[in-house]
Amino acid sequence: MHDLVIRGGTIFDGTGRPGREGDVAVDGVRLTTVGGKAARGRREIDARGKAVSPGFLDIHSHSDSVALIYPLAESKTRQGVTTEAIGNCGNSAFPLLGQARDRASSMMKAMGIDTSWTTLGEYRTEVERRGVAVNLAPFIGHGTVRAAAMGMDDRAPTADELARMQELVTQAMDDGAFGLTTGLIYPPGCYSSLEEVVAVARPAAAAGGIYMSHLRNESDRLLDAVDEAIQVGRRAGLPVQISHHKAAGRDNWGKIRDSLAAIDRANAGGLDVTGDVYPYTAGSTSLATLIPAWAHAGGTGALVERLKSPETRARFRREMEEGLPGWENFAKQAGFDNVLITSVKTEKNAGLPGLTVAQAAARRGQDPYEALFDILVEEEATPGMVVFMMDEADVVRVLAHPKMMVGSDASGVAPYGPMARAKPHPRAYGTFPRVLGYFARDKGLMPLETAVWKMTGFPAERLGLADRGRLAAGLAADIVVFDPATVADKATYADPHRFPQGIEMVIVNGQVIVEGNANTGTKPGKVLRRSR
Ligand code: CU
Ligand code: ZN
Repeated sequence: MHDLVIRGGTIFDGTGRPGREGDVAVDGVRLTTVGGKAARGRREIDARGKAVSPGFLDIHSHSDSVALIYPLAESKTRQGVTTEAIGNCGNSAFPLLGQARDRASSMMKAMGIDTSWTTLGEYRTEVERRGVAVNLAPFIGHGTVRAAAMGMDDRAPTADELARMQELVTQAMDDGAFGLTTGLIYPPGCYSSLEEVVAVARPAAAAGGIYMSHLRNESDRLLDAVDEAIQVGRRAGLPVQISHHKAAGRDNWGKIRDSLAAIDRANAGGLDVTGDVYPYTAGSTSLATLIPAWAHAGGTGALVERLKSPETRARFRREMEEGLPGWENFAKQAGFDNVLITSVKTEKNAGLPGLTVAQAAARRGQDPYEALFDILVEEEATPGMVVFMMDEADVVRVLAHPKMMVGSDASGVAPYGPMARAKPHPRAYGTFPRVLGYFARDKGLMPLETAVWKMTGFPAERLGLADRGRLAAGLAADIVVFDPATVADKATYADPHRFPQGIEMVIVNGQVIVEGNANTGTKPGKVLRRSR
């Protein structure tokens, strides 16, 4: 008698093999039968006509601290996500030391969470003590390590500071981190040189980790930035994952052909380079990213002070209109008509989420630059934004490429609590069903088994997670049952807090976390360790 039997579904095992009909049985936290006919179960699920696949693995997530606020991660789990790789874009929830601690704890305090931990080991203990629905695969962020070792300074590290950064990476790798990430457009990561990144990546390489990067540029200098990531992989000696691969800005549409060719060449030359993509033509990040990088030196307080000065405002406007060499200029790439404000913290500005910067300016009777600067001051640089800047043809090219997998670039949120009034990017709720439904089924971009592989077996292999991402006897029981005929994303930019359809059951470590269009409240997730 098995604990649970999922009977008669079409099994997509996560390897890319086409589906075949059969039973799946679970005992405890493990899969015990996959395919063929299983013995009876204490619980039996009729999955005839449904697809049964491994739980989806979101290789690009930002649920680090959010996992403590939304432990059920409804926006992710309702999509079928069972594991999230966190610590992306250079920003991790550990080590919380120095200015990294100040930044994280003020943000967390605003959401009612005490940052009791410092290291990855302590973070793991805290997350698991509170409970979490999904598994988390933690990476250490270079930006966090840099803030911990040398604050938010716009300069190169001293030899001692660099050694300290390496020591912090070594400690996290010893605690089971999966590798190092960078966010080379964000302060303080943007103040680093290639040499620094190579040096900080070395201890991650030595411990068998991988390097995942939000490139230094995803627009005019995309190809240089891809080349830089490849150089980090070559010189530090570790596999490279290009995060949320895209070409931003109309002038750069189509450059994805060249960037994918560069990735192919690097692979042909023996380096292991892959990437991920979210299936949308808008990006999303902090609204303050519209302000030139130099102005973030010293941290958020210093940025807000600079935003108050009329002389500095004049300089920002000039630099944003003309561009600055080496700086990712979203306002210029997209235009204020294509930048949506997604969240605010003050009551006074509660009407802003969902408006473009241009609309917000018109409503306030202001010029868009002045409106932007004022909003950033009033909100202490905390708002988020959605930026329309990609071409769907490029999104399709990346999705279809054999070295590219699916990642949401979102955190696990829910339609209640602190995010209820925000308008997060719909990728938070729709990424995986959108690939399965809109791209694979409706547009015929790839067979269903390939789409499933890009969100299960492929990312699991990337992370070195030997016992997840596939359905096979003996592996961890992370499972999704979905209806391939109806699976679809429902979240939109205007109405993002909408769960997808067609995801019928989600199982993590042998326990049902989603059933009947609702979370069960169970929290069987673990903070995973890199297996070597
Ligand atoms: Cu990211
Ligand atoms: Zn990023």
